[in-house]
Amino acid sequence: MRSMEANKPVATDTAEVAKRLVCDHLKAGDLAVDATCGNGWDTQALAETVGPEGHVLAIDIQADAIDATRERLHAHQYLERVSLIQESHVHLADRLTEKPQAIMFNLGYLPGGDPSITTHCEETLQAIQRALACLSKNGLLSIVVYPGHDEGAKEAHVIDAWVTGLEDFRIFSYRRINSRAPAPYAWFIQQG
Ligand SMILES: C[S@@+](CC[C@H](N)C(=O)[O-])C[C@H]1O[C@@H](n2cnc3c(N)ncnc32)[C@H](O)[C@@H]1O
Repeated sequence: MRSMEANKPVATDTAEVAKRLVCDHLKAGDLAVDATCGNGWDTQALAETVGPEGHVLAIDIQADAIDATRERLHAHQYLERVSLIQESHVHLADRLTEKPQAIMFNLGYLPGGDPSITTHCEETLQAIQRALACLSKNGLLSIVVYPGHDEGAKEAHVIDAWVTGLEDFRIFSYRRINSRAPAPYAWFIQQG
């Protein structure tokens, strides 16, 4: 797809849109959390956005993901502004000493890694609920959901039911509505 002005390509990929929206929300000096750092693309963008005065907490359950993220950050000289933690994001709240302005959950498994190591609906929901309680005023929490694999489909069901029942938050979604296969989509929840 191309935008009408200047023939500029428009990125519609869900994870890309989530990353851009969260980064647009952040400013230099902020605290941001990547609750599933994977290969480090989101963490890199968050680190770039918050700048040297800001900080990013990057969490993943897998050593391979932490290593890949560390390598990416090292290549961009962002390591000093990021804390890398290998554990489940269900413990995220215990790692915070102040309220973050944004928290990203990009669910599923590590691209190029073992697909059996994936996020699971009960733990994911618990982690997101705890994370939401930690957000700063006007903070933004994003969730990218992948319903195209078995565990992702279960997660989608559980998360959709919970998000749509939330009160006292501003809730947005981004999804392709004419895809034949179950396409990834994103929820954005803003502290009001
Ligand atoms: C789709 S990938 C994330 C992509 C990443 N944000 C990026 O920019 O490259 C999902 C990640 O979630 C991680 N994960 C699965 N269960 C987790 C859990 N309970 N806590 C934290 N991370 C988990 C996987 O190891 C995988 O790396």
